[in-house]
Amino acid sequence: MRIGKVRLGGNLLLAPMAEVTNLAYRVVCRRRGASFAFTEMVNSEAILHGNRKSYQMASSCADEGIFGIQIFGNSPVSMAKAAGILENTKFPSIIDINAGCPSPRIRKTGAGSMLMEKPDVLENIVRCVVESVTVPVTVKIRVFRDVSQTVELASRLENAGASAITVHGRTATQQYSGLADHLYARRIKEELSIPVIANGDIRNGAFAAQLLEYTGCDGLMIGRAAMGDPDVFLRIETFLENGTEFPSADCDQRKNRLEEYLKLLESYGLEKNVNLAAHSAWFTRGLAGSRSFRKSIQNVKNSDGIISRMEVLCSES
Ligand SMILES: Cc1cc2nc3c(=O)[nH]c(=O)nc-3n(C[C@H](O)[C@H](O)[C@H](O)COP(=O)(O)O)c2cc1C
Repeated sequence: MRIGKVRLGGNLLLAPMAEVTNLAYRVVCRRRGASFAFTEMVNSEAILHGNRKSYQMASSCADEGIFGIQIFGNSPVSMAKAAGILENTKFPSIIDINAGCPSPRIRKTGAGSMLMEKPDVLENIVRCVVESVTVPVTVKIRVFRDVSQTVELASRLENAGASAITVHGRTATQQYSGLADHLYARRIKEELSIPVIANGDIRNGAFAAQLLEYTGCDGLMIGRAAMGDPDVFLRIETFLENGTEFPSADCDQRKNRLEEYLKLLESYGLEKNVNLAAHSAWFTRGLAGSRSFRKSIQNVKNSDGIISRMEVLCSES
């Protein structure tokens, strides 16, 4: 799959997720078949104010290979400036504009999914960001209830210079309830010439294959299914290649992934930035005994302690 001048190794992308897709997690997913990953959303105003945490969120390293930075904001001028700074200091291959975040905290600043309600502003943001950087600019949207209104917005974004659009098939009001409706992505793909990426509720190879067929989309973006289960990318990739889905990772494999993730967090100096207990708990979702594991690590502050408790969990299962 190509986005503008950028060739991705495949068409399975890791979704940007705040407080999830830090550098270490992106690297783990890239090693397990994710073709490309975006940083969590980075506040463009904070970049202009030199905020250290936001700069760190936008950082990558050679282990990751090519990557994208997602920015959010409400002002064409600020977002364009921030994108320019990030291009020159962090060297992303793609800049993505967040036009889908449903959080009231973000919406009340006029950013995230609020931008869809001000299409002139969103269109202007895309134009200004495209003008200020040399890398392709993509946009991640949700949907309006009305399909044709959604297609019209996507078409305006393409005309403004977007190189690809990701469509999460839920309205902002839905937040994460119900199921994503991929009819929107299908209609947008029919109308636009740039790549369209479908997003929402993709958890396995069979569904991914159906979705590619149904929407005609160029790529798929996977979010929650990858939390604690980076192997989801390899499972989907294998299914798309030969129609077989290998089983989900067992307890020992998940422990190995968690160990790999915790080591990377440490080597990138990020372990203080994440809630270790919450992140570790993702890796035991659905396993027998995961509840007591979660309880047992609440006050554990180091990786070794967490891994030894996971060893106990696996030995008991
Ligand atoms: C914890 C969490 C954080 C998220 N943060 C972002 C974000 O920073 N930027 C964004 O565009 N979407 C964000 N999303 C939305 C996801 O990128 C994705 O669109 C959504 O989860 C639907 O895909 P899924 O069903 O594969 O999870 C977030 C979702 C979750 C669950």
